[in-house]
Amino acid sequence: MTHDDMQDIRKAGWELPREVLDTLGGYQREFLMAQFTGTRTPGYYAARLAALGLAGLGRVVDAACGTGQWTVALAGLNGQAEGVDIDAGRLLVARELAGAMGAANCAFRHGRLEALPFADASVDGLFCRGAFMFSDTARTLAEFRRVLRPGGRAYLDANGPGWTAHMFWTRGLRARDWNQAASAVMTTLRTALGRPARIFLTAGRLRALARANGLTVLGCGPEGSLSCPPGRRDSVPPIYPERMFGLPAVHELLLRKDGP
Ligand SMILES: C[S@@+](CC[C@H](N)C(=O)[O-])C[C@H]1O[C@@H](n2cnc3c(N)ncnc32)[C@H](O)[C@@H]1O
Repeated sequence: MTHDDMQDIRKAGWELPREVLDTLGGYQREFLMAQFTGTRTPGYYAARLAALGLAGLGRVVDAACGTGQWTVALAGLNGQAEGVDIDAGRLLVARELAGAMGAANCAFRHGRLEALPFADASVDGLFCRGAFMFSDTARTLAEFRRVLRPGGRAYLDANGPGWTAHMFWTRGLRARDWNQAASAVMTTLRTALGRPARIFLTAGRLRALARANGLTVLGCGPEGSLSCPPGRRDSVPPIYPERMFGLPAVHELLLRKDGP
């Protein structure tokens, strides 16, 4: 019997039209399968968001939403969830996912982190996973501050140097994927040259960037370590190890907009 990816997706509790999956190949399909199978169930995403305090809010935004699995989970926990991404193909998958999952309070828009398509002070919560370090980080944080209501909170994560070492060695040289290895070298060079995007970040740099853009840092730690309020017991296990090659792998940050 041939292996059926669709069965794995359904087994994890997701609904997605088979025709949508069939349009994806190569890396896009690999990416989707990693997000929608195994332990990555709808319940997993909901538990993670609830632990971060992104539940019971009015309007929330999934900034750089990709294929929309976090957006759908946000919609189940909050009044209204809106996903934004620059990749029109991923937005198509996200819309189909939301439709198949019956998430009626979920919408998607094309847009950039550095110019979010929302009015000033119109958003209660922001979630940004796996994308911040690809954007112009200062402009993105300024946008987060602009669109959040006073008291609104934001979550983001960012690759640290350990992730770049992993890209270079494990995904690159060892797997003989020269694009990955070259990309890790470019990331390192861009970071060293102080470029704003496609970089890796240290925890100190992340905190400093957030403060410089007028956001209060509620917490900063390795991926999977933060909860709101701090120390909440139902936080869920991390996806990534704390360190890769002895270096911090992925940091996460919880922020709040204080003042107008
Ligand atoms: C690694 S994926 C993460 C997607 C999703 N947040 C998740 O956790 O599955 C990175 C996403 O960021 C999007 N992206 C990258 N740079 C962006 C930017 N400047 N503005 C908006 N989206 C961006 C990409 O199109 C992609 O969907």
